[in-house]
Amino acid sequence: MTNQIKEKLIKLSEEIADLISCSSDLINLDEIRVLSLGKKGSVTAYLKNLKDYDEDTKKQIGSLVNQVKSNINNLIDTKKISFRKDLLNNRINSEKIDITLSSKERELGTLHPLSRTIEELSAIFADMGFSIVEGPDIETDYYNFTALNIPKEHPARQEHDTFYLEPDKDGNRKVLRTHTSPVQIRTMEKLNLKEFDEIRYIIPGRTYRSDHDATHSPMFHQCEGLVLGKNINMGHLKGCLIEFCRSYFNVENLPVRFRPSYFPFTEPSAEVDIGCKKEKDGSLSIGEGEDWLEILGAGMIHPKVLEGVGIDPNIYQGFAFGMGLERLTMLKYGIPDLRPFYDSDLRWLKHYGFLPIDNPSLHSGLNGVFS
Ligand code: PHE
Repeated sequence: MTNQIKEKLIKLSEEIADLISCSSDLINLDEIRVLSLGKKGSVTAYLKNLKDYDEDTKKQIGSLVNQVKSNINNLIDTKKISFRKDLLNNRINSEKIDITLSSKERELGTLHPLSRTIEELSAIFADMGFSIVEGPDIETDYYNFTALNIPKEHPARQEHDTFYLEPDKDGNRKVLRTHTSPVQIRTMEKLNLKEFDEIRYIIPGRTYRSDHDATHSPMFHQCEGLVLGKNINMGHLKGCLIEFCRSYFNVENLPVRFRPSYFPFTEPSAEVDIGCKKEKDGSLSIGEGEDWLEILGAGMIHPKVLEGVGIDPNIYQGFAFGMGLERLTMLKYGIPDLRPFYDSDLRWLKHYGFLPIDNPSLHSGLNGVFS
């Protein structure tokens, strides 16, 4: 009886060993494990039947079943390892990398000339103690005009070619700011008059006017300047702007001329010209020469503007200036047409753009610019 069972068990164990060696994959291998060693498995069945035998038979068969089990487990483990090896080898073979293939070219981006100008301006004015503030592109009529001493019927409003938005619920129409000057008002409104002696800000940003040709774009950029304090006079305005022009154009003795002008929000007002020479081939060289080029508007802040934001013009005076950044950029880098500034044409950007690491002196301010 015992021998019969033993023989059957050994035969079963051989059959299972065959199945394992012929198994096709890991899933198949697991099916074989369940069929033989699982709860209802063929080998497990022998353990379940043990209770029917005497002690001695129980022991003998029990130990044989355990041997068979561990044998099967070992065979399964070995087979598993061999399957995993095969899988890995297949992957290694199929994922071969040809290191002789040329790699994908990575294009290096460039800094847009306008961004470069804003960085340069920021560095130059930071050296003179200025910080940067910004304001909204969409403005109320009050900030863009009225608070700047440009009342409703003022001719300056027509000159600005303003873009108006659809009327609000209360019937007022907001505008796309026509200059960065409204941010002067917003900045001065927020000042704590008890705490400050002097402020110096530049305000770069987008501005909008309904105008489009080779030198005008409906969206363009300006940089405003605002200095306010208890002892600020026209001499400061001139000194600051002469210093700026010479640093920006990198010409140490650049002639700078202040021509009387008119802006409703400054009094006196001036337009600032720099010396230049128109070469025979039509190009411009900035520096000494018989010609002048207008590059910015400026003036002492009008007392009415100061009163409007609650500042006593008898205690505080200041100056402001505003310049077009596209124009400054075109002049410095000899870019003849304004329109490609916004075309995002990579060829143009490659030609006129800058590598961000091109100029290590950029953030070392005035000394760096002149060195
Ligand atoms: N806002 C003026 C313009 O757009 C420039 C300016 C700014 C003039 C500040 C004087 C003072 O033309």
